[in-house]
Parts: sequence; structure tokens; C-alpha cells
Amino acid sequence: MTPAMSMTRADLAFRYPTNALLRDGTAVVFRPAVAADRESLIGFARALNEDDLLYLREDITSPDVVDDWLTDVARGETFTVVAEVGDRIVGYGSLHLEPARWTRHVGEIRINVHPDYRGTGLGGELAGEVRAIAPAFNVRLLSAQMPVDQLTARTVFERLGFRHQAILPGWVMDRDGRDLDLLIMATDI
Ligand SMILES: CC(C)(COP(=O)(O)OP(=O)(O)OC[C@H]1O[C@@H](n2cnc3c(N)ncnc32)[C@H](O)[C@@H]1OP(=O)(O)O)[C@@H](O)C(=O)NCCC(=O)NCCS
Repeated sequence: MTPAMSMTRADLAFRYPTNALLRDGTAVVFRPAVAADRESLIGFARALNEDDLLYLREDITSPDVVDDWLTDVARGETFTVVAEVGDRIVGYGSLHLEPARWTRHVGEIRINVHPDYRGTGLGGELAGEVRAIAPAFNVRLLSAQMPVDQLTARTVFERLGFRHQAILPGWVMDRDGRDLDLLIMATDI
């Protein structure tokens, strides 16, 4: 495998699929998301409960939002690695980029694990995977955003070396219209 710091986008074609064993012995395959994953991703999102949906930047139960996501994947502005058990998507990790902005060196990581697979180490594996491929996208700073009370995600990111950057009071509005504080974490790549 190419060392992470010298990885290029071309190297990604050789990186996948990869296999991993979760803590409970479940075999998982990681591979890049493609347009044909649309229905599986919508199905995955619809298995999430209200609390989970609160912790997501966007409402991925909406087909329009998933279409925009996969359009960004096709354009190379988002890279998503999905975790599959058999032919079922059980989690994903995404790297979101803004190549035309002055934050073009900053990538944003988003991770999401099916409720049945939480606490198995999958979230940590996916976050580690996104961190590993970030250099291929010229990311120098990797950020993660979450409501301040999302303690599980904080644990996952802290273990990977992410540190608190800012708390923005009231910057998250939940689905019931309540304000929450937004925590921004980041790590150098
Ligand atoms: C965040 C998320 C991806 C973590 O997935 P996961 O597969 O459960 O993660 P892991 O099993 O790798 O690690 C979670 C760790 O957090 C720990 N944890 C759980 N609840 C916690 C809490 N309240 N406080 C501190 N740590 C906690 C777990 O014990 C586990 O640690 P362990 O490895 O020592 O057992 C998952 O909860 C999720 O999909 N949440 C909804 C989406 C989201 O919030 N994404 C983050 C913002 S981008």
C-alpha cells in the first residue's frame, strides 16, 4: 500500500475493495460509493431514528439530498467509502471538499453507522479510512462537525487525534426547531 502522505487519487483505484473484521467478528467490505448505491443509501438513511438524523448535516432520507451527494461524488467533490456486510450498506464515511473556495485545503469528514452495527468499532474504522485517503485530495486540515452533545462521535474523532477548534452557540437547529451548539473538531493531515 502507498504510504498515506504520498497517496494520489490514482492510488485509490488500487486501495479498494478492502476487508475488515469488526470487533464481533463480522466481515465488512469497504469500497467507494457509486451512483448505483442511490436506493441502498436512501434505505440506510430511513433505518435511522430521529436522534440519529439530528446528528447529520443533511437529511439523507430525502432522495434529492442523496442525488446531490452522488452528483458531488461523480464530480470528485465528495469521496464516500461505504461499508458492506453481504450486499447491505451498514455504514459510510465521507470526505467533503470545496475545491473552489479559500478553504480548499480543508476537508470535512462525515461518518454514519447503522444502529445495528454501532459499538463494533465500525465508526472508528470508517473515520480512519477517510483520514487515510484525505492526502489524495490535497487535504491539509480535516474537520468534523457535530452537535456538542454527540459524545460517541467525539470519542471516535478524539482517538484519531482530532481536537476541539470551536463551539458555535445555537448554530444547529434540530428537526423540532430547537437550537443546539455546534462543535467543530479538526486534525492536521
Ligand atoms: C458516531 C458513530 C459513527 C460511531 O459509530 P460506532 O460504530 O458506534 O463507533 P465505534 O464503535 O468505532 O466507537 C464508538 C466509541 O464511542 C464510545 N461511546 C459510546 N457512547 C459514548 C458516550 N456517551 N460517551 C463517550 N463515549 C461513548 C463507545 O463505547 C465506543 O468506544 P469503545 O470502542 O471503547 O467501545 C455512530 O454513533 C453514528 O453513526 N452516529 C450518527 C451519525 C453521527 O453522529 N456522525 C458523527 C458526525 S459526522
